[in-house]
Amino acid sequence: MRDELIRITQEELEAQKRFAREFHSLPGRPRTYHIVTYGCQMNAHDSEKLAGMLEDMGMTAAPAREEADFVLHNTCCIRDNAERKALGNVTWLKEIKKERPEMLIGVCGCMVQEPGMAEKILHQYPFVDLAFGTGNIHRLPELLYRAVDTRRRVVAVPEEQTVLAEGLPIRRESPFQSYVTIMYGCNNFCSYCIVPYVRGRERSRSADDILREVEGLQARGVQEIMLLGQNVNSYGNDMPGGVSFPELLRRVSRTGIPRIRFMTSHPKDLSDELIAEYAENPVLCRHLHLPVQSGSNAILSAMNRRYTREAYLEKVEKIRRAAPDVGLTTDLIVAFPGETDLDFEDTMDLVRQVGYDSAFTFIYSPRVNTRAAEMPGRIDPALATERIERLIALQEEMTQKRFAEMIGKRESVLVAGLSRRSENQLTGKCSRNISVNFPGDPALIGKIVPVRITGAGKTTLKGQIIEGE
Ligand code: SAH
Ligand code: SF4
Ligand code: F3S
Repeated sequence: MRDELIRITQEELEAQKRFAREFHSLPGRPRTYHIVTYGCQMNAHDSEKLAGMLEDMGMTAAPAREEADFVLHNTCCIRDNAERKALGNVTWLKEIKKERPEMLIGVCGCMVQEPGMAEKILHQYPFVDLAFGTGNIHRLPELLYRAVDTRRRVVAVPEEQTVLAEGLPIRRESPFQSYVTIMYGCNNFCSYCIVPYVRGRERSRSADDILREVEGLQARGVQEIMLLGQNVNSYGNDMPGGVSFPELLRRVSRTGIPRIRFMTSHPKDLSDELIAEYAENPVLCRHLHLPVQSGSNAILSAMNRRYTREAYLEKVEKIRRAAPDVGLTTDLIVAFPGETDLDFEDTMDLVRQVGYDSAFTFIYSPRVNTRAAEMPGRIDPALATERIERLIALQEEMTQKRFAEMIGKRESVLVAGLSRRSENQLTGKCSRNISVNFPGDPALIGKIVPVRITGAGKTTLKGQIIEGE
């Protein structure tokens, strides 16, 4: 059964805005902030909202953590190493705080929402002044106000994340590329994954709210938007008579925004209608991230992914038929409990068969409360490392194959900035989401330019601008 969705009311948002205003004249208030962000695009976008609220409160961004009056860690807990990294960095600040006792340390995001974590922060991290979960980020003005006003620690983690907040201020990182959330949470409960526990059930934003946001971005000259959701294919399923994801894509395309991407699409719900969209909609970027996780049916079933290897490959086939220029990328987990050598070879074989542009590869990491954490058959870490190394080497080979096919082709590149390697080189992503480096005038930053692909590095392409087009 679905929890009742609580929309944040206008009054509540007004109340938060009042806290933000009154914060300006609060004695001894922090003046500068620094946000450290871990994890996925959802967190990156949440950080833009957190920054928006902090600026509304009269604070300005400090370039480095050590210098900031308020340091906020927006954490991730998808794997143990993500969590350890965040906690390690929080602990590191403890030393800085000894020298600057007025510094405030905050922790928020997915890790804080993990069962038992609020208590752990209260007792084991006494130098943390403020902690809140993913379910109440909109209350940052109030919570920070209370922490500063009372000089006491504030730990506020809601048990349920059933809220949906519209109208928060957003300080966007880039003037020409923007994230737009279309839905929050996840209902899939893949057996290894903690996201449904820390992000709550699926909540779709209304199509009107999304369109209004995109129209605003388009009017400001944004060139590319990325629609965000853990499983965008089930967009609208939680609203009676709701708009489907392909329909939403069509409507968003009509706003005049030049490029649309989305993340992430679950293979089990990838519809023919969405595949057809790739063939028909020129605004949709030529990239599909389709996480497969494993090539073995036994493992896919234990993961509760609800598709088979064959069903996945059939969908890949359909996409290739409908739109052969679409580049596929994926996520892969090795050493899931009980993964045999043969299961792993099935994954290798699938990677060879699909020929992804690139892949994110992970060693399985047990997460609290998830079903897989209770499963027998843990894989020896040395074997897990051996498997991931073989998988990475194979994917690198596949990437080189894909890159070689692209040499000589014309690609549209959204110029993101100067290349880190060389001063007179620009860098940007082509529609297929591969980085392309090429010589050019920095005045082109923020524009979409035609580029001829002339060569390939390990993870990026090289090119030359096509003049006079
Ligand atoms: N919603 C997205 C994935 C979000 S998490 C989807 O379903 O595709 C990003 C990736 O992290 C997952 O695709 C998976 O490959 C990996 N991941 C999630 N939980 C993990 C765990 N416990 N151990 C290792 N990798 C994990
Ligand atoms: Fe996690 Fe699965 Fe949901 Fe993705 S679809 S967030 S992997 S539970
Ligand atoms: Fe993203 Fe990590 Fe949370 S991957 S949804 S930030 S647990």
